[in-house]
Amino acid sequence: MRRLGVLASGGGSNLAAILEADLPVVAVVVDRPCGATAIAEAAGVPFEVVPRGPDRVEFTHRIVDALQGHEVDLVAMAGFMTILEKPIFDAFPGAVLNTHPSLLPAFRGAHAVPDALAAGVKVTGCTIHVATPDVDCGPILAQEAVPVMPEDTVDDLHERIKVVERRLYPDTIRRFAEGTSGR
Ligand code: GRF
Repeated sequence: MRRLGVLASGGGSNLAAILEADLPVVAVVVDRPCGATAIAEAAGVPFEVVPRGPDRVEFTHRIVDALQGHEVDLVAMAGFMTILEKPIFDAFPGAVLNTHPSLLPAFRGAHAVPDALAAGVKVTGCTIHVATPDVDCGPILAQEAVPVMPEDTVDDLHERIKVVERRLYPDTIRRFAEGTSGR
């Protein structure tokens, strides 16, 4: 069984879904105080806060050290809001996954949900992919479409997407870890 490390920065609802799916999470690493640490604590999973610094490469090395300290061999970014540099992709080659709240390659970047609303698309969704140094560009493992409703706020639409992510991400991580994801 793989040893999964989860990186988070926010409310942690994807982390909660990963834990509820009984995936083998051995460590949670966050870059700021956030809801994800309380979720890790409640589940009895060790967590570490690795604060951002001015140098993103140096920060990435500290994230790698935290993950390796728990002998992680598969990394899932779940709402992690700092761009990571090459050292993590060298340390965990082909083994860093991400969930993104759009149908990539549409709406890359940190503002995918407001960008989709502003573009007036009628359908958006989520993408689970292998992360690479090029942000939101790695090989796609799974995608699912989500409708945009006429009166949607950013929060309405993001929550509709997150309902799907919380099902699709744990399922895709499991298939990836078992080597049955089709990649
Ligand atoms: C998800 O929509 C993820 O795709 C995006 O941030 C959100 C994280 O939500 N990058 P949560 O912290 O897991 O609730």
